[in-house]
Amino acid sequence: MSDLNPSTQKVAVSLTDLHKSFGSLEVLKGVNLEAREGEVVSILGASGSGKSTMLRCINMLEVPSSGLVTVGDEAITLKTDRKGKIKPADQRQVDRVRSRVGMVFQSFNLWSHKTILENVIEAPIHVQGRPKAECIEEAEDLLDKVGIADKRDFYPAHLSGGQQQRAAIARALAQHPDVMLFDEPTSALDPELVGEVLKVMRRLADEGRTMLVVTHEMGFARDVSNRVVFLHQGQIDAEGSPADLFNGKGSERFQKFIAG
Ligand SMILES: Nc1ncnc2c1ncn2[C@@H]1O[C@H](COP(=O)(O)OP(=O)(O)OP(=O)(O)O)[C@@H](O)[C@H]1O
Ligand SMILES: [Mg+2]
Repeated sequence: MSDLNPSTQKVAVSLTDLHKSFGSLEVLKGVNLEAREGEVVSILGASGSGKSTMLRCINMLEVPSSGLVTVGDEAITLKTDRKGKIKPADQRQVDRVRSRVGMVFQSFNLWSHKTILENVIEAPIHVQGRPKAECIEEAEDLLDKVGIADKRDFYPAHLSGGQQQRAAIARALAQHPDVMLFDEPTSALDPELVGEVLKVMRRLADEGRTMLVVTHEMGFARDVSNRVVFLHQGQIDAEGSPADLFNGKGSERFQKFIAG
C-alpha cells in the first residue's frame, strides 16, 4: 500500500447522493463516495449490488437518475429532455471526462480487427489528435511496461486472456488518464493468469495512480488499496481502511461477505 495521506490530496472523483434506476428497479440508492488523487479504492459487494453501475456512472456509460458526479474539476451537468429522459447536458463535457478516465473491463473489450499496437494508439491519435510517431513510441513503452512488448503486431485473439487484459490496461493508460477504473479485471481469467494482471495493477498503485477497482480479489483489496468500500443493495454498507475492515471493524454484513 502506498504511503499516502488522502486528506491532503485533491478530490479526483466524487459521487454525491447518486441514484440510478433501470425502469422500476432502483440499483443505486444514494451513494456518496470520494476518491482523492493517488488513492486506490477497492469496491466489493455481492453480484447485483450495483458495483458496475456505480463505476459506469463515473464516465457516463450509465447516466445517473439523480445525484452529482465530479471528476477532477468537472461537475457533470445533467438535463431532462422533452420526453423526460435524463441526459448529460453537454456532450463535450462528457468527452472531456472520458478522456480523463481510463476504463478496464472484465471482458477486455479490445478491437478484434486491430493489432495490439493499433488498439493502444487508436484513441491517442484519433480522439486526442496527438502525432502518430509520438503515440507509437509511447505505446511501445506502455506495452513494455505491462510485459507484452513482443505482442505489438498480434491480434487480440492470439493473446492469452492475461495478455489481452494487460493490453487493455496499456490502451487505457495511453490516454494519460487522471483516474483508472477497473471493473473486475481478473474475473474472466484462468486462475494462473490472474497474478500477472494484478502485478501490473499493483505497480500502477505504487506509482501513485488514482484507481477505483471493483474486484473479488481480497488480497488486492487488503494489501494494495488505501480504502475499501462495500456495496450492498445499492448503498455503501461499510467503508474504511483495509486494516480496519479486514480486522473486524466493518459491518456485520461485510464480515459475512468476506467470510464467504
Ligand atoms: N442496463 C441495464 N438494464 C437493466 N438492468 C440493469 C442494467 N444494468 C444493470 N442492471 C441491473 O442492475 C443491478 C445491478 O447491476 P450491476 O451490474 O451494477 O451489479 P454488480 O454489482 O456489478 O454485479 P456483478 O458482481 O454480477 O458484476 C442488477 O440487478 C442488474 O440486473
Ligand atoms: Mg459488475
